[in-house]
This record gives sequence, C-alpha cells and structure tokens, in this order.
Amino acid sequence: MNTLNKLVIDSSVLILDYLYKGRDFQRFWVLEEIARAPYFAFLSVLHFKESLGLRGDNHLYLMKEHFEQTLNETTHLEFMESVGGADQWIDRFLAKHLVLVYYWAMVIYYLINAKAAYNLNVLVEEHAGHTYENYLSTHPHSQYRDKISEIQADEIKHAAELRHAVGLID
Ligand SMILES: [Fe+2]
Ligand SMILES: [Fe+2]
Repeated sequence: MNTLNKLVIDSSVLILDYLYKGRDFQRFWVLEEIARAPYFAFLSVLHFKESLGLRGDNHLYLMKEHFEQTLNETTHLEFMESVGGADQWIDRFLAKHLVLVYYWAMVIYYLINAKAAYNLNVLVEEHAGHTYENYLSTHPHSQYRDKISEIQADEIKHAAELRHAVGLID
C-alpha cells in the first residue's frame, strides 16, 4: 500500500510542478487548499464512528490533533491568499475540484485503512516541507522568508504527528 501511496503522490507532484512552473505562490495555494482536506476527512470519520459508538482508545487525542492541524493548515492557506496565490479563477477552479475529490477519497481511505491514509499524508507533508525548503534555498532574499520558514516547520511537525498517529491505530 505504501508503494501505491508513493506512486500517487509522485505522479500528482509531477503534474502540479509542470502546471505551476514559475508560479510558486499559486502552486503553494493549491497545495495548501488540498493539504487541509485529509485532516477534515479524518475528523469527519472519527466523528462519524464515535456517533456509531465505535470510539477507539485514542479517539479524543486524534480528533483534537486533526482539528488543530486543519486550523494550522488554514493559516497557511490564508497566507498564500494574502500574497495573491488564489487571485486567478483557473487556480481556484482547479483547487476546488481537486479538493472535492481528495476529501472524499480520504474519507473512504481512512474508513478502510486508517494507517495507510496516515502514511499517504506523511508523504504529502514531507513533500510540502521539501517544497518550502526548496523555495527558501532558491529565494534567499525573499521578503516572505520568515513566514515560509514558519510554514515549513509546521509541515515537518505535521509529518511527525501523522507518523505518531500511525502507531496509535490498532
Ligand atoms: Fe500547509
Ligand atoms: Fe501540511
């Protein structure tokens, strides 16, 4: 399953990198729009399972974690919007359709195999971390350096939190 996860992520990254060559903040905005979806999907599934009486040992911890992660990702999204990442209709059109598919895909994936869904999003967060790291090394004088560094640290933190969550699933 992890090989399939990697294949999906690598091919999606290749397509987005090609489409968004030279348009860093638009690409970041699309990535941030998509990046929020899994946390909301995990939270939805946990909430749904809890309503059915299927409350696991780490249920509250995971719900709290995913809620905080979705809020944190929203601050990234808002920053990318503030620097013009979502100004163009075509970018909003693409991201809003991708997020619709990705949200429901993550709901189903998490319901069927929570560990694999977490592992896929570890790869997503690691990719986000590398993307921002790459931006910082290629734009050493960017006026957004501090904020991008802060966001990059958040992505790495989320990857670690997801790796920890994998260990909590039975
Ligand atoms: Fe983010
Ligand atoms: Fe992220």
